Amino acid sequence: MPNVSNYYFGTAIIFLIAGIMIGLHMSITHSYAPAGAHAHINLLGWVTMSLFGTYLALNPHKAAWQLARIQYYIYTAGVLVMTPSLYLLLSGYTGVEPLVAISSLVTFAGVILFAYIIFRKA
Ligand code: HEM
Repeated sequence: MPNVSNYYFGTAIIFLIAGIMIGLHMSITHSYAPAGAHAHINLLGWVTMSLFGTYLALNPHKAAWQLARIQYYIYTAGVLVMTPSLYLLLSGYTGVEPLVAISSLVTFAGVILFAYIIFRKA
């Protein structure tokens, strides 16, 4: 499997563990305010990263592009900042809203770059 796919799966499983821990915490405390953060950690982290990693494993010539590595870092940085700041925002710390906004745009930039990787002819 290409390196960048390994990075994606290694990062994705950490997000899944974090997402499930938040899910368990919500269930135990009956406090569901951070449900949106839980959903985004699981879906942007575990699910989307696994799909990116799978696509790159199936297209190893694209995984070898420097751009694939750059895309990994941009997308991961976005999700890494966005999800904990979203958790804080939903838990009542409204001051972090600008951080959520900026990191959401970084995450989106990572997705647009991935679209470019998909559509660019090898
Ligand atoms: C052991 C694993 C998990 C536990 C204990 C858990 C627990 C929860 C809880 C307590 C809620 C809030 C329900 C409510 O608001 O009434 C929730 C919502 C949700 N979960 Fe999970 N979850 C788990 C795994 C996952 C995974 C793997 C995904 C996605 C891949 C996921 C996606 C969602 C979504 C989309 C919502 C709705 C969020 C919202 O309404 O804003 N969950 N989960």
